[in-house]
Amino acid sequence: MNIFNIVATAAVALAAAVSAQARPLADIEKSGTIILASEGQYAPFNYFEGKKLTGYEIEVGEAVAKKMGLKYEWKTVGFDALLTGLAQDRWDLVIASHAITEERAKAVTFTLPHYCSGGQITALDPKIRTAADLAGKVVAVQTGTTYLDSVKKVPGVKDVKNFPTDEAARNALSSKRVDAWVTDRFVAKDLIRKVPQAGLKTGDMLFVEQVASAVSKGNTTLADAWNQALKALIADGTIAAISQKYFGEDVTCK
Ligand code: ARG
Repeated sequence: MNIFNIVATAAVALAAAVSAQARPLADIEKSGTIILASEGQYAPFNYFEGKKLTGYEIEVGEAVAKKMGLKYEWKTVGFDALLTGLAQDRWDLVIASHAITEERAKAVTFTLPHYCSGGQITALDPKIRTAADLAGKVVAVQTGTTYLDSVKKVPGVKDVKNFPTDEAARNALSSKRVDAWVTDRFVAKDLIRKVPQAGLKTGDMLFVEQVASAVSKGNTTLADAWNQALKALIADGTIAAISQKYFGEDVTCK
């Protein structure tokens, strides 16, 4: 390939990337099916039971799609590929426990939140409970999460170790390769209930956050329709019932 070919090929690739258009609501309605994306490795929010994708967010996503009069199709990919896939038009909406942050809001448009939660300190040693207790300690978090950002800001932490999944971060704690793990408070609560023998103990919450779905930046027709359907399902108790099933409490934002 000579330099002209290289430049021409690069220009075509760039044009393709730029012209990838998010599907507005009208296009999705015309096709009849919304493409939803999640991670599938974040119980009890989104995970696999055998071959079946399930969890609070999966049921919320399916209920909202139905309310919008749409069929749905799921894609599951690694957490770090979810938001970038929106910009590439690989799916219409991501529902995978992304908190609404200023940084992310530069790249995507968030819907209304479907739960309120926060990052919680989790350890085997009952003496590790507060942010101050993390001084001199090694802490595990999932890459690309708000937990990573927040632990980086805790003064005196010896090392923050990143893992591709939240479960890998938890395994690092279970096998004592780290001193603490920061994860979602409901993820920790669910584990303590389901696997009491693991001896996990929860300490303070480091921060609170609102968790929402994301659509391609500026795809407001889709975000508005999603919000309207979600609001109706919150009002009629559908979302609270799904929440009770997974958490034994209502995790929607009060
Ligand atoms: N709530 C956290 C965040 O906003 C963690 C999300 C992790 N989600 C997942 N599917 N593993 O970054």
